[in-house]
Amino acid sequence: MKGSKHPRNDLTINPSGNESIIDVIGRVEVSRRRFIQGSASAGALAAAGGLTLSGIVGTVEAAVAAPVVGIGFESIPPSLAPVADKVTVPAGHTVKALVSWGDPIMPGAAAYKADATNTAAEQAMQYGMHTDGMHFFPFPSRGQVLNDRGILCANNEYTHEEILFPDGQVGASGYSIEKCRKSQAAHGVSITEVRRINGNWSVVKSSIYGRRLTANTPMRIAGPAAGHALMKTREFNIAPTGSVATGNSTDGFKAFGTINNCAHGITPWGTYLTCEENWNGNFGANAALPAVTTEAGKLYNRYGVTAGGFGYRWHTVDPRFDLAVNPNETNHFGWVVEVDPTDPKSVPVKRTALGRIKHESAQYVVDRAQNLAFYMGDDEKNEYIYKFVCADKYNPGNRAANRDLLDHGTLYVARFNADLSGSWLPLTPDSIGLDGVALRDNPNFAGADDAEVQAKILIKTRMAADAVGATMMDRPEWTGARPRLNGNDEIEIFCTLTNNDRRGTTTASSNKVDGSTTAASARPPVDAANPREDNRYGHIIRWREAGQSVLATEFGWDIFVQCGDTATTKTAKPTNDYKGNINDDPNGSADIGAPDGLWFDWFGRLWVQTDQAGNGTGDWVNIGANSLSCADPVSKEFRRFLTGPNKCEVTGITMTPDGKTLFVGIQHPGEDAVAANPTALSNWPASQWATRADGTPLPGGRPRSGVVVITKDDGGIVGA
Ligand code: FEO
Ligand code: CA
Ligand code: CA
Repeated sequence: MKGSKHPRNDLTINPSGNESIIDVIGRVEVSRRRFIQGSASAGALAAAGGLTLSGIVGTVEAAVAAPVVGIGFESIPPSLAPVADKVTVPAGHTVKALVSWGDPIMPGAAAYKADATNTAAEQAMQYGMHTDGMHFFPFPSRGQVLNDRGILCANNEYTHEEILFPDGQVGASGYSIEKCRKSQAAHGVSITEVRRINGNWSVVKSSIYGRRLTANTPMRIAGPAAGHALMKTREFNIAPTGSVATGNSTDGFKAFGTINNCAHGITPWGTYLTCEENWNGNFGANAALPAVTTEAGKLYNRYGVTAGGFGYRWHTVDPRFDLAVNPNETNHFGWVVEVDPTDPKSVPVKRTALGRIKHESAQYVVDRAQNLAFYMGDDEKNEYIYKFVCADKYNPGNRAANRDLLDHGTLYVARFNADLSGSWLPLTPDSIGLDGVALRDNPNFAGADDAEVQAKILIKTRMAADAVGATMMDRPEWTGARPRLNGNDEIEIFCTLTNNDRRGTTTASSNKVDGSTTAASARPPVDAANPREDNRYGHIIRWREAGQSVLATEFGWDIFVQCGDTATTKTAKPTNDYKGNINDDPNGSADIGAPDGLWFDWFGRLWVQTDQAGNGTGDWVNIGANSLSCADPVSKEFRRFLTGPNKCEVTGITMTPDGKTLFVGIQHPGEDAVAANPTALSNWPASQWATRADGTPLPGGRPRSGVVVITKDDGGIVGA
């Protein structure tokens, strides 16, 4: 990384009382699973048994068949420097632009203006900037789900302020509340109806489902932390011209906005989860922050909140984001937010039971006993991996019964042991810290009763994880659950660990048990789960829950792959060969580094997206531009499927139910360009296409994050 007006959606939807879209999806997915399981031949299952691997890598043995739908494309070459300003996909596939930053997505929305003169109010009705995690929710029809019409929910993580405004963030016109409001409106979530007509995908601009969540959208706070004193903020009337204090406090149950929405999740009842990552950077203070000896100061320190933030300047014109005025506002961010894409009038809900971290994604698993858990990473150097287990079972037959499942349950944090076992450490008042003190008796979480202790544990999740001795990881990014297909009955979760250059230095330090460590400042030694002292290329870890139950408190783990550059000339360090161990043929043909996006498709294929410098220089001279690869979770073979334009990140991936359309997000093309020359580094997607997928003109003038659609020319499953 580096809204003012909530759109009006006052049209009635789904008045029929028929079964919900989600009920239909669930039924079809169950029958699909049955079909694919039935298709796996006995011979294939036998061939996959008895896999023997050595060392850390591969110790959790796979006992599954190769996916029925395999990987049928040939690896494309890396896009080396100077990186071509285009998206490339394998022969036999076609890629087109679907939706880009600034495109109108709802009735009455203005067209994108290539000179960035769209107003804040216009941006609030257009596709947001810097697209990230996303999911395609298909529409139902006559008991089936459609493969050519649905709702695309996508995160808009952050803004490239130099590109967002004609004169950049400050420029000749200075900074203003109008600029702040436009920046806030470009953050959040874009909910976009999309459809395919005569083979061409397009945005349904007149859709009643079109919706934006921005930094100013009214939301509800739910779960154990709701209503706590730390969640009570100054109350403002939010208007286009400014945020005006009412003189009152909020009640701790209401919030405004979601920001830094990185990766995502879905629930089995068909809601979308948007995860708040680098929210700390959007705050600032027009005065010194409180000392780190105070509760607020310590909390800011542990989460990386500073007086200057990441330079957004919101706090200079919007007092809601000025910590000197409104110190608790930060506590409204860092959550997983649930939204129902099928109800444009629904109020998004911040689910505090899932903890407050820099959330990357939230991957659900329902086990055979209908217990439900979500697996989540906290993306910062030397932070942790978490699991939330719902107290109540998932009810597949009654969507309404699941409405508040995310408000009750237990949050755990992971400890990875050197013997390849692991433990889920609960974060509850009873939990005993490494200092021998129960969290209820730890001054960080002191409260009038256990309900208050739990609220503080959740607001200060990182500190609670510090106290119980969780394993500091190499930047946990996306989590993905391998489908239980083709003979695999294990609950097996994969997580990208994108990189870490703060480990293994001679003066070692760890996140302190008392929760006082400044965010990302520790320099722990290497360990079994994070074995490289200079992990610039990252790795992918995976674990299996004991007893094939999400309730397990023990798991087995291994490293699925160490990423790297086979051709590197870097001198190896004792714990780093930099080359990694990617299984590709010929060796080095599909190398990647900095794995970030990670997703299993319905067919059991693993897709991995990367987030590195993106211009193919320095550490990336052999790996080239950012990419999307497809891997077989059994053989571990990788093939490169897509390379991105210059200075972009490839992030966000979803598919139609039939697998015949793949949606992929391209974020921040032309990163670091300045307002005086916005196209200096990229003018994508206009650099690649004159029109969108539906044939409408595709304006450029500056680089635009967005989503592409990829189809196979023979009409088959993408990548097969
Ligand atoms: Fe926003 Fe962790 O990537
Ligand atoms: Ca290799
Ligand atoms: Ca990410």
